Amino acid sequence: MDRQNDVTDCEREFYQDSLPLLAGTIAEFLSCIEAIRAYRRETEGRDPVCACSARIKSAASMREKLLKRGLPPDREHALSAVSDAAGVRLICPLTEDVYRTAALIREIPGVSVAREKDYIAHPKPNGYRSYHMVLHFPLRFLGAAGADNRLWLEVQLRTIAMDCWASIEHELKYKKEIANPELMRRELKRCSDEIASADLSLSTLKELIEEKENCFETSDCRR
Ligand code: GTP
Ligand code: MG
Repeated sequence: MDRQNDVTDCEREFYQDSLPLLAGTIAEFLSCIEAIRAYRRETEGRDPVCACSARIKSAASMREKLLKRGLPPDREHALSAVSDAAGVRLICPLTEDVYRTAALIREIPGVSVAREKDYIAHPKPNGYRSYHMVLHFPLRFLGAAGADNRLWLEVQLRTIAMDCWASIEHELKYKKEIANPELMRRELKRCSDEIASADLSLSTLKELIEEKENCFETSDCRR
């Protein structure tokens, strides 16, 4: 697992004793994902996830988000009013793996799904595609999972190709001196459409390969 940011004294000061709860939530979710992946590899011969990364939102970016929403920039609001203090990103080989993994996440006992956004079926106007889930995650390690023993966890699921687009778009959108922003916007949207079409072709290829494998397993085709 890849960590996207390291926790510094700024986060320790901001989140205080909620910091280990955020880290514990991420660790528990990732251990569920690891178990699901191992079980799928064993039973289906294939892993629906190829990479995971996680981060605790930096204190600076959390303060900025709260202030933008007109809320006090403190720990209480960071944990109650914002759903991505703890975030996990799962990268899947193919689009159907994204939906399959989302379905498996919905089945994790004690976890409730507060919100889902399907930006794959309904991409953002700029071309952003991903599947987002906001989970209400029980802090089982604290004891009985009461209403207060829960934290929000934002999960982003996307294919390798979608992740490639989102990473590059994220990098470009913070560049100040772009000569032709309109051209960049159009080109990014075009790349997103091409990526969507490549994802579709890859899924079709996998289906064709599986059909052939199934066919070879039946005696009719072997003759
Ligand atoms: P926040 O954006 O977190 O305030 O909440 P929201 O409810 O509007 O969620 P949304 O689903 O729009 O986005 C949540 C996260 O998804 C962001 O923090 C980004 O990590 C990612 N994301 C959303 N839109 C884009 C986009 O256009 N480009 C990229 N690269 N990432 C995006
Ligand atoms: Mg947003």
